[in-house]
Amino acid sequence: MARTDELRPVTVLFADIVGSTALGERLAPDEVKALVGECVSRMSRTVEEFGGFVQAYAGDGICAYFGVPAAHEDDPERAARAALRIIAVVAEYARDIEAAWGIADFDVRVGVNSGQAAVGTVGGADPQPVALGDATNVAARLQAAAAPGSIVVGDSTARHLGKRFLLDPIGEISVKGRSKLVTSWRLAGATEGRPAASGVLVGRGPEVARLRVVVHELESGRGQVVLFIGDAGIGKSRLLVELRSMAAEGTTWLEQHCPSYGGELLYWPFAEILRSWLGIQDGEAEIAVRTKARAKLGGLLGPRLPDVLPALGRLLSVKLEPELEARIRDLPPDALASELHRAYRTWIEALADRGPVVLALEDIHYADRSTRELAEDLLEVTDRAPLLLVVTSRPDASSETARLRLRVLAEYAHRTAEVMLGPLSESAASAYLRVLAPDLDDASSRFIVDRAEGNPLYLEELFGALVEAGGAEKRQTWTVSVRATTLPPAVENLLVARIDRLPEGARRLAQVAAVVGRTFPVRVLERVADSNDVADDLAVLFRADIVRELRRYPELECSFRHGLVQEAALSTLTAARLQELHGRVASALEDLFAASLDDYLELIAHHYARSQNFPKALDYLERAGDKAAALDARGQAAEQWRRAQKVAARMGDEAAEQRVLARLATLDAAPA
Ligand SMILES: Nc1ncnc2c1ncn2[C@@H]1O[C@H](COP(=O)(O)OP(=O)(O)O)[C@@H](O)[C@H]1O
Ligand SMILES: [Mg+2]
Repeated sequence: MARTDELRPVTVLFADIVGSTALGERLAPDEVKALVGECVSRMSRTVEEFGGFVQAYAGDGICAYFGVPAAHEDDPERAARAALRIIAVVAEYARDIEAAWGIADFDVRVGVNSGQAAVGTVGGADPQPVALGDATNVAARLQAAAAPGSIVVGDSTARHLGKRFLLDPIGEISVKGRSKLVTSWRLAGATEGRPAASGVLVGRGPEVARLRVVVHELESGRGQVVLFIGDAGIGKSRLLVELRSMAAEGTTWLEQHCPSYGGELLYWPFAEILRSWLGIQDGEAEIAVRTKARAKLGGLLGPRLPDVLPALGRLLSVKLEPELEARIRDLPPDALASELHRAYRTWIEALADRGPVVLALEDIHYADRSTRELAEDLLEVTDRAPLLLVVTSRPDASSETARLRLRVLAEYAHRTAEVMLGPLSESAASAYLRVLAPDLDDASSRFIVDRAEGNPLYLEELFGALVEAGGAEKRQTWTVSVRATTLPPAVENLLVARIDRLPEGARRLAQVAAVVGRTFPVRVLERVADSNDVADDLAVLFRADIVRELRRYPELECSFRHGLVQEAALSTLTAARLQELHGRVASALEDLFAASLDDYLELIAHHYARSQNFPKALDYLERAGDKAAALDARGQAAEQWRRAQKVAARMGDEAAEQRVLARLATLDAAPA
């Protein structure tokens, strides 16, 4: 993983065991070491379950990164869940210690913080990725400030966790070597369920009309399948909420999302669906689970209960009576899987006997194979019963989605609505922004709508960043400030993760392309990228839907599909690398377009300026001004010369500055 010197959003978690000194009074040092060591490795395993990376073991604790070596779109959330799990894991361990040694104060404190960090590799033989930056220091400090058994998160993390977690403000904490105080929060837990959907639905008229037909069909007793396919944040879940509100009363609604982090049990979403139908709470005792399962499933299935209970019990991870267990105990994995599928189908069909059933699986691109196969297996129920199977997914050809989709379209096309969600229209996006911010001035509103390019999540986040930059007070007029032009954190996480998922070559190409511009001639890319596989890597970017072909004639030009993806790619480059790449782009443009240089003067100047090659930048800006003046485009000429003047001033080249000022004066002097 030879990634040197890149910037990316990371979330840092520090966890430190407290109370091990009391152990030292009772036990020999090597015994204490073994006990603490076991606890530390349990914490590490927890971190790894959520896709984190344990960077260091420091005394009685760990330092872990989420987002290293590669970013996930939900790193802050993963870190928060890992932190909560660590508290639970250590509490359990502490109970054992208390039972064994009578020592009660064994505990852990956890600090979590997010921020941009330089990620590189250090070490010779066994290089380890490291993330350096302010975020790490702050996380360590937050951990030290946490009370035993609690988690303290910094403001930057808290902002990501939003409504899905319970956060109590605990004030500001000072961090050594840092003038600004850090606002911090105690992470108390996760909230159940989804955040309430916003009231409005903008646009999506045709999609809603299609869903109406689907609902009508379902209510007439005909099984249906709906596939919602679209990018993150485009509005799949929102439409699902809409569908739910359209469904008739008496419809059984079953819904679950597929989590992005692995390490979960097989069939997790299906197990959760069953659990919530049974009314089982988190952490409920096994006997209670068994009782509920028997009572509710028995009421539904009557004498067929013993047929399904063993497999469904397995799904719920509860042990049943020996005679029931015996039915599945010796089955090989394959047979067990089909037994489970059969039991689940039986349950769903029995539900559908009583009225329409909707089973919605969200974000199936994260699903593991077992989940996808069970979903596929449920398809045939739609042939016989009023079951509506809904799946939401990103257009990810490499995930389990693709197979499910092909199967659905091949065999169930007659009862399937495939709803491809594209960007909202500009008017719908503006309307949505007006709902979010009735008082936003026109210029700011246009700025946000332009940048969001029809993605409502980006719109919300861009607006959120604006509110943060300009004070979070509600009924005030916001205007775009400079800070609001940086990527909002949630969007950054999402998009950097998307770039990080690319294979190395394609990822580096995307970075170089981002420097060339939103739209870039492939010829320039070939010259600048130090790679022989530009065509192959570009094809990867096409397939990942990050870049698209714009035109092939007169020469191949491509474009980032979304401006914010380009920005995300740029955000991963260090200042030094950025500067170097701009320089290379500038000289590539000079070479390649030598015959028609006049058309590229401003662009070349821009790249030279970014590469800090000020003499060249000045030269091109002056020429660009001259060219515009010759065409009598005075506004443009003035703009270029003013820039030239700034560059000259920056170089401290007084003669040049005077020269440029003289030309500017000719504009004023000449008759209009
Ligand atoms: N048509 C719409 N009208 C109003 N708000 C929308 C619309 N589509 C999406 N949103 C909002 O945008 C955000 C992202 O949408 P969501 O449905 O979560 O995206 P996805 O599930 O595709 O990732 C949510 O807050 C959602 O309520
Ligand atoms: Mg969603």
